[in-house]
Parts: sequence; C-alpha cells; structure tokens
Amino acid sequence: MEGVVDAIMRDMLTQIGGYDRCVTEFVRVSQTVLPKRVFFRLWPELLTDGCTPAGTPVYVQLLGSDPALMARNAQVAEALGAPGIDINFGCPAKTVNKSEGGAALLRTPERIRTVCAAVRDAVSPSIPVTAKIRLGFDSDEHFEAIVDAATSTGITELIVHARTRQQGYRPPAYWPRLAAARQRSPVPVIANGELWSVSDIEQCHRDSGCTDFMLARGALCRPDLAQAIRAHSAQKPFDPMGWQRVQPLLLEFMHRNAERYEPKYAVNPLKQWLVYLQHYFPQAGALFAQVKRIKEFDDMERALLGRPPRLDEAA
Ligand SMILES: Cc1cc2nc3c(=O)[nH]c(=O)nc-3n(C[C@H](O)[C@H](O)[C@H](O)COP(=O)(O)O)c2cc1C
Repeated sequence: MEGVVDAIMRDMLTQIGGYDRCVTEFVRVSQTVLPKRVFFRLWPELLTDGCTPAGTPVYVQLLGSDPALMARNAQVAEALGAPGIDINFGCPAKTVNKSEGGAALLRTPERIRTVCAAVRDAVSPSIPVTAKIRLGFDSDEHFEAIVDAATSTGITELIVHARTRQQGYRPPAYWPRLAAARQRSPVPVIANGELWSVSDIEQCHRDSGCTDFMLARGALCRPDLAQAIRAHSAQKPFDPMGWQRVQPLLLEFMHRNAERYEPKYAVNPLKQWLVYLQHYFPQAGALFAQVKRIKEFDDMERALLGRPPRLDEAA
C-alpha cells in the first residue's frame, strides 16, 4: 500500500505472522526502464532474496500501461531477484489514471490482456505473475470481460478488489461478484476489500467461495489479523494482541523509520498508523488525540513512553 506499507511495515507485520506473501507499493512504469535504485527504494528486500526478514516473499508491483515497457521492467525485477511480479490495475488516483495507469485500464479489458501477456511472456515461466483488478471503472458491467482478459494470458493468480474504481474505498465490497470470477477464471482468485476481521473473512468466503484473501487496511488496524485468521481456520485457540503488545511496536516503528529516513520523518508515519489502529484499539485514538500536534521525534518518543512533555512543549 503506497505510503503506508513499506519495507518496515512489511517486516513488522510478517514477524507477527500469518502472511504467505507481501506486495510492494506500486512501482510506476511510465517512460523508462527504471534504474535499480528505484526498485531498491520501494523494495529493499531485494538485498535479502526478495523476502522480509521473517522469510515472507515480497512480490514487486508494477503499474503502467505500455506493454513493452512493463515487460522490460518486469525483466529488471526478475534479474534483481523478484520472487513474483504483480500488476496493478486497481489504483484509483486521478494523476495515475490520467496517464492511463492503474484502474484506468479497467475501461479497456483488451489493454489489460496485452499488458498481462507482455509481462507474462517477458519473465521466466517459474516466476509467478499476478494481476490485481477491481470490478470495473464506473460500473461492474465489464467485470467478466476484465477477468477473461487478465486470466487468458497465463498469469498465476488474480486478485480482485471487490469494488469499482468509482466506489473508491467506500463500503461495502461486493464479495458475491467474486464468485463469478472464480467460476470463469482458470487461475485462483484472491479476494480483497473490506476484510477487517475473522468474521469478514468467513462472510467473504461464504459469498464468494474464495479461500485466499488479501488484507489491506485491516492489517494496519489489527497487526495480528492474519494470525487470527489462520488460528481460526485451523480451529486453534488464539490470544489476540492487546494494546500492551502494540505499544512497543509503535516505538520500534518510529525508531526504524528514523533510522531509515530521518528522525523528523518518523513522526508522521507513526501518526498515520495510529489513525488506522484506532479503528480497533480505542487507546490508539486517545493517543492520537494527545500526539497529533507533535512534530519532533523526541517529543513523540516521550509521549509513547508515557513521559510528561518537556516544559517548553507543554507551554
Ligand atoms: C493508502 C492506500 C494505499 C494503497 N496503495 C496500494 C498499492 O500501492 N498497490 C495496490 O495494489 N493497492 C493499494 N491500495 C489498495 C489496497 O491494496 C486494497 O486493494 C484496498 O485498500 C481494499 O482493501 P481494504 O478494503 O481491505 O483496505 C492502497 C490502499 C490505500 C488505502
């Protein structure tokens, strides 16, 4: 997830566990074959065999509409050691869609087919190539055509965010529509959209028949969600992560952001994560209200440690 689930977050979530795979933030392919440093910035796991420290593979996500250029960048990703390549046809951002990237291609299933085929053919057959789509652009009327276009190309799996581009991120997600995709798709369909809890997974499975799920915002709200889902499906007892276990993660997250970027750039990602966490942990909401004006790393650290603010800050 662009701007939210970077290598630090992927590492932390996969250490907690329950994930088979991660995907990078999208790598925008517009006019060039990208230099290694662009891949490295969004996908530092390339230094560790393309996996998080917990050993979870991280697929590289490419976003673009030029089949030849997408193919050449996929080859670069393969050469750098990508365990898999995912193609983004879901991004609703206006700037991206204006240049015919992301969800814009949902309007022309044939172009989805060409991009998927070009990427699939460009890399070794052993490298999984997956595509992430939505139900459509303005409506879901061409959904079946989009599924056929993507899955006729030899891709390995299809991930479906069960909303149109026009529906953005607003609930509900239309999980029953995924049943249609499963029926016609020769490859597994992975369900995505509005999966916040174990009971959402159960309902999505009942509605769609899907047995594989992609978590997004739910994973940020509840860091042990994937583990909870696994425990539930294995009928094993599960001790949900309480706020006490989240608190040290917040400190770790901020420190690691400070190390990777700069201390002053570590404060906003922390606030952003609290905004997600507050959906599940009321304590995160209270903490956010307390820290939302803090700009300095040291002041944020004091707040996270429960220490009183410095006198000049309190004033
Ligand atoms: C801030 C943000 C950034 C996102 N960035 C990406 C991205 O880079 N690639 C992608 O495939 N999806 C991206 N998504 C979409 C999610 O992967 C997911 O499809 C969407 O949030 C629906 O799932 P959810 O309702 O469980 O959150 C992003 C979503 C959000 C909210």
